[in-house]
Amino acid sequence: MGRTITDTMVRVEDVHKSYGSGAAAVHALRGVSFEVPRGELVALKGRSGSGKTTLLNIVGGLDTPDRGRVDVDGRDLARLDEEGLLALRRDRVGFVFQSFGLIPILSAAENVGVPLRLRGADPREREERVELLLALVGLADHAAQRPGELSGGQQQRVAIARALANSPSLLIADEPTGQLDAETGHAVMELLRAVVRSENVTALVATHDTTLLDLADRVLELSDGQIVEH
Ligand SMILES: Nc1ncnc2c1ncn2[C@@H]1O[C@H](COP(=O)(O)OP(=O)(O)OP(=O)(O)O)[C@@H](O)[C@H]1O
Ligand SMILES: [Mg+2]
Repeated sequence: MGRTITDTMVRVEDVHKSYGSGAAAVHALRGVSFEVPRGELVALKGRSGSGKTTLLNIVGGLDTPDRGRVDVDGRDLARLDEEGLLALRRDRVGFVFQSFGLIPILSAAENVGVPLRLRGADPREREERVELLLALVGLADHAAQRPGELSGGQQQRVAIARALANSPSLLIADEPTGQLDAETGHAVMELLRAVVRSENVTALVATHDTTLLDLADRVLELSDGQIVEH
């Protein structure tokens, strides 16, 4: 039996997560529930320490909750073993981090191609996909430059192209504009907004930047490990 196709890309139900134990325990998430509909760009805001990164890591299969349930693209993450989680992160979820996370000795094109190599894509298919993605993020003319030879905004656009390489269903971005100036950050958010439409992807984006929240289909707010109703 195949899985059920639903209109919900992410379903989080009563998720709890603590770090440490006893008196020193930090309750990073305290009963978080929400859904992200397929095809939407959902922004996650909240003060520093409110649990945004913890939540994104759990949704992306990088960390596991102490309690509660997370479904991504119709899969209950608790039912996946290590290999299943690895396949999820490789094939279904694209990650974008504040610090870009590009490999310094590789060119922009080679960085975008890394996930395709990991999947064992055929080299011709890989080259074509890399070219298309670099064009999509407006960097067709910068394919040969290494990250150190690109501006911050350009590096983040390479990282977005890389996150899209394997056509993920879900894009998770953790403060993708946190290291960029306001104007460059806005351009990166507009790019994310555009790729969610053109690549038919769903996105969950943590951001501190209130001016960028306007571009989202909906905004979730975390406060002290709980979702605040708006
Ligand atoms: N590995 C860890 N060990 C112990 N405590 C942790 C760990 N990771 C996060 N925490 C704690 O959990 C809480 C939530 O942290 P988290 O990183 O999710 O917040 P955040 O909303 O992403 O903050 P920021 O906006 O600063 O990135 C914080 O109190 C933090 O100190
Ligand atoms: Mg964080």
